[in-house]
Amino acid sequence: MRRLLLLGVTASCLCVFVVTDKQPDQQADKSSPETDGVLQLKKGNFNRALRKHKQLLVHFYAPLTREGHQVSNAFEGAAEELQGSEVKLAVIDQNKEKELAKELDATGLPAIRLYLSGDKHNPVDCPIPQSSASILTWLKRRAGSATDLIADLSQSEASEELRVIGFFKELDHDYVQVFYAAAIDLPDLNFVVTQDEEVISKYGLTHDVVLLLKKSELIQAYKMMPQTSKEELIIFITVYQMDPVTEYTGETATQILTAPVLNHALLFVNKSSADFKDIHMAFSSAASAFRLKILFVFVDVDEPRNGRIMEYFRVRDFEAPLIRMINLTDHVTYQLPSDTLDLQTIKTFCQSYLEGKAKPKMQSEPIPEGWDKQPVKELVGTTLEQVAFNPNKTVFVLFYLPYSHESRAVFPLWEELAEALKEREDVVVARIDASANDINLSMQGAYPSLCLFPALHAERVVVYPGKRKVEDLIKFLDKEMKKAKKERVKEDEDRRKYIEAMKAEEAKKANESKDEL
Ligand SMILES: *[C@@H]1O[C@H](CO)[C@@H](O)[C@H](O)[C@H]1NC(C)=O
Ligand SMILES: *[C@@H]1O[C@H](CO)[C@@H](O)[C@H](O)[C@H]1NC(C)=O
Ligand SMILES: *[C@@H]1O[C@H](CO)[C@@H](O)[C@H](O)[C@H]1NC(C)=O
Ligand SMILES: *[C@@H]1O[C@H](CO)[C@@H](O)[C@H](O)[C@H]1NC(C)=O
Ligand SMILES: *[C@@H]1O[C@H](CO)[C@@H](O)[C@H](O)[C@H]1NC(C)=O
Repeated sequence: MRRLLLLGVTASCLCVFVVTDKQPDQQADKSSPETDGVLQLKKGNFNRALRKHKQLLVHFYAPLTREGHQVSNAFEGAAEELQGSEVKLAVIDQNKEKELAKELDATGLPAIRLYLSGDKHNPVDCPIPQSSASILTWLKRRAGSATDLIADLSQSEASEELRVIGFFKELDHDYVQVFYAAAIDLPDLNFVVTQDEEVISKYGLTHDVVLLLKKSELIQAYKMMPQTSKEELIIFITVYQMDPVTEYTGETATQILTAPVLNHALLFVNKSSADFKDIHMAFSSAASAFRLKILFVFVDVDEPRNGRIMEYFRVRDFEAPLIRMINLTDHVTYQLPSDTLDLQTIKTFCQSYLEGKAKPKMQSEPIPEGWDKQPVKELVGTTLEQVAFNPNKTVFVLFYLPYSHESRAVFPLWEELAEALKEREDVVVARIDASANDINLSMQGAYPSLCLFPALHAERVVVYPGKRKVEDLIKFLDKEMKKAKKERVKEDEDRRKYIEAMKAEEAKKANESKDEL
C-alpha cells in the first residue's frame, strides 16, 4: 500500500521535476498490432490478448515522458529475450486509450502490470525498470524462490556493483522470505543469500544480517529482527545504496523521487560559489545523522537545467544558499529560518521538522489584523499583487527576511519613508516577509529588496538600486512616477494611432468592396 501511494506521489511530481530532454520516438504502428515483439493494445484487442497469453506484462504509458521512454526501451530489449516464453509484453497508450485505462484503473503514472491467466482484476504491479535486465530479473525472481539466490560469494568478490547479501543461519526462517520479497521489488540490484563460513568470520557475524557490499567493502549492515518488514528492509537498502547527499540531475531525479524516504531536505546552492565546500560539508554531516528519515539532495542553482525544479519550489538563484524541506506525503514545504547554514543549524531544523515543530512555508500567511492601519502596510502572499498592481497608486515594497540582520536594518528607514510620504494619497509604503510567503513575481536582486510598482503601469516592477536614504528613495519614486506617466501618455498615443489606422484600413476595404459591386 505504501509503495502504491509512493508511486502515486512520485508520478505527480515527476511531471514537474523531470526535465524531458529526450522525446520518445515510439509511435504505435496503426496497421500492425505488434512492434518489435511488443503488442500495441487497444480497447478492441485487449481482451483477446488477455485470453491468449498466460502472462501479459502491460506498460501503460504516456508519450513524451522520460519514464515512458525509458520503459519503452527496456520493453523492446526484454521482448527480444522473452520470445518463445509464456510472457508477452504489451503497451497501452494512456492518452489514446483513456476509456480502457480507466476501466483497468491504470490512469496514474507510471504503471506496469502483469496480468496472470487472463485475470483482468488482480494484476501484479511491476517496479519501474531501469533496463530490460530489470524486467527479466523481476519475472525470474517473482516466479522463483529464495534458494535461487544462493551463490558462491568467492567468485564475485571484487564486483563493482552494489550487492545485497543476506546471511542467514537457517534458510527456512521467515527472514529469508522477507529478504526474497525485497529482492523481487528491487530487480535492479544484485541479491545473494549465503551461509558461507568465510563471510561469517570475515565480518564477525553473530546474527542474521543483510550486508551491503561494494567492491567487497562493507557499506552498511542491517540486523534482521523478527518484526523486520519488507518495507523496512527496502528503505534500508535503497537509502544506503545512495550517497548521504545526492546531487539532483536528470540522471538522479528518478532515484530521488522513487526513494521510499518521504522527507527530503533540499539544499539550493551555487556549486561554483566560494562557500559551496563548507555548506556542502555541513549538509553532508547532517545527512549522516538523519539517514533513513530524511533524504538529502542538493540542487546547483548555477545549472540552467535545474530551472524546472527551482520553479517548482519557487526558489530564485539569488536566494541561494537556502534549504527547503518537503514532506512528500502532503507536499508541504518548510524553509530553514536562518541565513547561516552550519551543521548545528541544519540539524536543529531537521529535528524540529521531524518533531512537527517547523513552520511551513505557505503560499500566503493569513492577512494580519490591521495590516493597513500603520504607515508601513503589512502585506502577505494574497494581498501583494492586489495592492502592488493597483494602477491608481505607486507602491514601494520592502521584501525582507525576518531572520536576516541586513533585512532588519532597513526597517527604520522604511518607517521613516512611510512617515515622509504620509500625505501622498497616491503612494503606498509596504513590506512583506519573503521567507513566509511565496512571492509570485519575477524579481531580481538579493533580499532585502526595495521594489517600486509605479502607478498607471500595472504589473511593472523596478528594483531600487540607490543609497538607503529617504531623500534618495523619494527622488527615485518621483522620477519613476513621471516616467510611468510619460510612458502611459505615449502608450495611449500609440493606441490611438493604431485604432485610427485600423479604422482607415476597414474603410478602405469597405470602399473597395463597394467598388466591386
Ligand atoms: C555562481 O557563482 C559563480 C562564481 O561566483 C558566478 O559566476 C555565477 O554567476 C553564479 N551563478 C548564479 C546563478 O548566481
Ligand atoms: C508528512 O505529512 C503526513 C500527512 O500529512 C503527516 O502524517 C506526517 O506527520 C508528515 N511528516 C512530518 C515529518 O511532518
Ligand atoms: C482606480 O481608479 C478608477 C477611477 O477612479 C476606479 O474606477 C478604479 O476602481 C480604481 N482601481 C483600483 C484598483 O482601485
Ligand atoms: C503565479 O503566476 C503565474 C503566472 O502569472 C500563475 O499562472 C500562477 O497561478 C500564479 N501562482 C500563484 C500561486 O498565484
Ligand atoms: C472611396 O472611394 C471614393 C471614390 O472611389 C474616393 O473618393 C474615396 O476617397 C475613397 N475613400 C477611402 C477611405 O479610400
